[in-house]
Amino acid sequence: MKITFFSTQPYDKTFFDEHNHAYGYTLEYQDTQLNRQTVSLAEGSEAVCVFVNDKVDEPVIAALAAGGTKIIALRCAGFNNVDLEAAKKHGLRVCRVPAYSPEAVAEHALAMILTLNRKTHKAYNRVREQNFSLNGLLGFDIHGKTVGVVGTGNIGKAFARLLHGFNCKVIAYDIVADESLVRSGVQYAPLETLLAQSDIISLHCPLNDQTRHLINKKTLEGVKKGVMLINTSRGGLVCTQDVIDALKSGTIGYLGIDVYEQEEKLFFRDLSANIIQDDMIQRLMSFPNVLVTAHQAFFTHEALVQIAETTLGNIKSITETGEAVNKAASLV
Ligand code: NAI
Repeated sequence: MKITFFSTQPYDKTFFDEHNHAYGYTLEYQDTQLNRQTVSLAEGSEAVCVFVNDKVDEPVIAALAAGGTKIIALRCAGFNNVDLEAAKKHGLRVCRVPAYSPEAVAEHALAMILTLNRKTHKAYNRVREQNFSLNGLLGFDIHGKTVGVVGTGNIGKAFARLLHGFNCKVIAYDIVADESLVRSGVQYAPLETLLAQSDIISLHCPLNDQTRHLINKKTLEGVKKGVMLINTSRGGLVCTQDVIDALKSGTIGYLGIDVYEQEEKLFFRDLSANIIQDDMIQRLMSFPNVLVTAHQAFFTHEALVQIAETTLGNIKSITETGEAVNKAASLV
């Protein structure tokens, strides 16, 4: 079986080639994103393997089906970039990697909190320039603070567990409460209450019609002044312009983002010699209290092993049994 990969990075090849020994598939790697212009590269492949910024909309799905593709295998957890209805209509199966390493993302969210708070990124540069002054590096104790977790699935749960270790009060908002978290002392509350009480808010829900621009001008009116906002989930959860306004007014005191609404034109590439046309990301990066990472929260050795194993396992399992490795991995 031939599988065409889109948006391939060198580390994808390393991990997939290593794990493919057990499967013997023909893996064809394309650097380019999957979209209407590039879909013809998949012709003759029974499966395509896509990532977070590939645009798998109806025209792309129709073209994939016409070219003989039967399976769309996401090598990530989020699936907001795939039109599932269109996949069903054209008879394509869609699978994903529901939980490859929730800890990887949760730990990155925590790293962003600690960096923004204690300014270790600035201290590192300062000391290298022989500037040993502490002025401007003042932080706060995380211990005892209230942390609001929006979305308590695999990642939100792992994140809440980490914050318990800091002796934080953890409050959560989700459409379904998780009993194990409640037993561990997490209090579920309506979104408004979470926003009003949290010193730190971390987003871990998927992007969908209900959650798009969950953080906007109106919801930001209800947060604690100087709140720290962390988004490692999907850029579309926040209205970037409203967040910039809130940073300017001091409503948001710290912002850590690993995802950005227009990230598909920027992330996963070296643009250091380019003129960036996106003024919004440039404005965000100009704030001293903003930390941007380029969708790297998932990027640990353990996660990449799990992603390669589950993705190839899903394709094999769908081919042989009609279902992916586990129920949560089968989307259509
Ligand atoms: P999950 O499916 O285990 O959990 C999602 C949780 O969000 C569920 O508990 C669900 O009930 C809740 N939810 C759904 N709709 C909601 C709403 N309207 N309001 C509040 N909560 C809602 O997903 P998981 O594995 O925890 O991942 C969460 C998100 O993290 C993914 O959707 C993906 O977008 C993002 N992600 C980011 C990565 C990165 O590298 N930055 C890597 C992996 C995932």
